[in-house]
Amino acid sequence: MIHFDERTRTWNLVLATSFHALRADPDGRVVCLGSGPRPPGPARPIASGTLPDDPFPRIGVDRQGRRDEVVTFGDHTWHEVTLKVSFPGADGGHAVRDVRLRYASHAIASSGDGRETLRIRLDDPAQPFSAWLCLRLCVEHDVIERWLELENRGTRAVHVEQLGFGTLHLPAGRWDLLHASGGWAAEFQAERVRLPVGTTSLESRSVHTGFVHHPFFLLCPADGAGEGHGTVYFGQLAWSGSWRLAFEQRPNTALAVHGGYNPFDFALELEAGERHVTPAMIHGACADGFSGASQRMHAFLCAHVLPRTEPAEPVRPVLYNSWEASYFALSLDSQIALARKSAQIGVELFCVDDGWFGSRRNDTAGLGDWTVSREVFPTGLRPLADEVHRLGMGFGLWVEPEMVNPDSDLYRAHPDWVLHFPERPRTEHRHQLILDFGRPEVVAHLARVLAALVEENAVDFLKWDMNRSASEPGSVVGKAIWRRHAEAVYALIDGLRERFPRLAIESCSSGGGRVDAGILARTDQFWTSDNTDALARVAIQEGASLGYPARAMACWVTHERNHQTGRRLELATRFDVAMRGVLGIGSDLNALDPAELAEYATWIAFYKRIRNAVQNGVCHRLQRLDEAGTSIVEYVLPDASEAVVSTVAVERRIAQLVPPARLRGLDVAALYAAFDRDGKEYVRARGAELMALGLDPNLGTGRYGPGYSRTLWLRRLD
Ligand code: DGJ
Repeated sequence: MIHFDERTRTWNLVLATSFHALRADPDGRVVCLGSGPRPPGPARPIASGTLPDDPFPRIGVDRQGRRDEVVTFGDHTWHEVTLKVSFPGADGGHAVRDVRLRYASHAIASSGDGRETLRIRLDDPAQPFSAWLCLRLCVEHDVIERWLELENRGTRAVHVEQLGFGTLHLPAGRWDLLHASGGWAAEFQAERVRLPVGTTSLESRSVHTGFVHHPFFLLCPADGAGEGHGTVYFGQLAWSGSWRLAFEQRPNTALAVHGGYNPFDFALELEAGERHVTPAMIHGACADGFSGASQRMHAFLCAHVLPRTEPAEPVRPVLYNSWEASYFALSLDSQIALARKSAQIGVELFCVDDGWFGSRRNDTAGLGDWTVSREVFPTGLRPLADEVHRLGMGFGLWVEPEMVNPDSDLYRAHPDWVLHFPERPRTEHRHQLILDFGRPEVVAHLARVLAALVEENAVDFLKWDMNRSASEPGSVVGKAIWRRHAEAVYALIDGLRERFPRLAIESCSSGGGRVDAGILARTDQFWTSDNTDALARVAIQEGASLGYPARAMACWVTHERNHQTGRRLELATRFDVAMRGVLGIGSDLNALDPAELAEYATWIAFYKRIRNAVQNGVCHRLQRLDEAGTSIVEYVLPDASEAVVSTVAVERRIAQLVPPARLRGLDVAALYAAFDRDGKEYVRARGAELMALGLDPNLGTGRYGPGYSRTLWLRRLD
């Protein structure tokens, strides 16, 4: 509900369990009055607009507590800002780097699905320049999407030097930040830190999201929250280009969170009459801890962001991917053999990874030449696609459209099509360069090539990879390339999906390097990490689950001796971990004997029984890995009819208890039975008992060592 009080010019945004209140003060500044969990009860306005809105005394001109919804550079230069604009000077005078935004009008509109949007128009009193602060509510998920729209109403271009999607002001105090950072094969490492006084930044300085930091955050008062309790403010950016989240903890304990385009090397020219709409910052607050915050982000992403293929699919299919089985050594015979075995064990989607095109026999050549290699597939890919379809599976293909190897026909024909500065070196990573998506002809070429590929080969699924960060970011569009690249990726995917509504897409960037709510609006799932070692993945997947739902998180079972770490793990452990998301298989099935294939088939059949709860259930992190060396996750369907409890021990901590996992979200009065993969019943108890006393994580086996794992499927019996 959005409520406006004309007298005090106060807006109350009231959500299921939270609120956000703002007002236009007597000067016309739009300031945040407060936000957070709200008192229980019917949806009523919280703030009347009559209490003082500035919780801090003014210290001279340094209004440290000023809580402008859009913080602008001008009268205010000593803090982080949402917006900095340089206007051309009048009559030869110097440029005016001063923008002030004052309330002009507002509108509240309802979209088709009932979501309300508040648009507040803010005008600069001296310049022909306006901004709209836009806030769209998703009441049931306690989520607000916020973005800015700018308009240059003048006759001369203005230069936007810094632009956020939004700024949040949290209650005064000291704060803990829970976020995820990492690197290749070690994405999503969760870390909880006390914010120091000053500005702490999470960011990407590339043309893609990256995995050095992931663009989401969870904040709680210092020492104030855990997985199941406490106030948490959360958010993420719906953007796949260069980005920054800046947490500005001021000495007076005020905390502002700024999210948006990375100001590093940023520039945006707004020509006369031109508008710019930023991507959204998604945010909210809850009173039930980090799991509560993650659940709201998951529910919002599933309901409003993740695309639906036509017709909509209730669950994501079980995938086979050839990468770790074949690497670049592909052949029609070996892929057909893999496809047949995949179908035999229950796989539903078969994807051929890198190496099927051009001269791509290793990673030094061929990237950019998206024609099927006749050396590898003498009669093209169609015989393989047809066989995969005959076997009842979808057919998938790996592509990396944004890149080119210098040793490729495309680069030889168009050496100027890559990011570079004229006459300067072009630094290669993995022997490749990034195409300049500022050039319309490059994007048009790829749109043609990709559409033909999908059409000619009856492709149902694309794994869209992106394997390097930007260097020498020279483009025909100058600094705008930091935005244009991601915008062009979006346009290419949107175009493909429009033309092929049944096409599903996986976002991959050397693993989890491009995961954010912007790409998730266009892709059905993401490849979480190239690290397929089950025990290493527990932390990776747990970190990813802070921001993103299991329904989008692709997880493969691979070889007994892991290719990344060399560690040997039992098949049960590998499945138990991979079944926490969208299951995939990456093992060399041609090297397995019939008994091993039968074992895979049994696991896949079990996954198909539990996946509705995993992919469509509410995720509770009952015990985080860092708490006791054991991770316990529960997925429970919203109607409490089914739940899945997954336990994986990564470390044995001598003389430390792994406490029983108290389940959540069950029907207290209902009787549940817990079954393992083979249908063996372990426990039969009422919901109340399972929630109050919990399940013994080792189920009386006495085993807790590294690699101990168990997936239980709970069904309501009455
Ligand atoms: C990086 C991806 O993360 C891998 O899964 C694989 O697709 C390779 N690229 C192929 O080059």
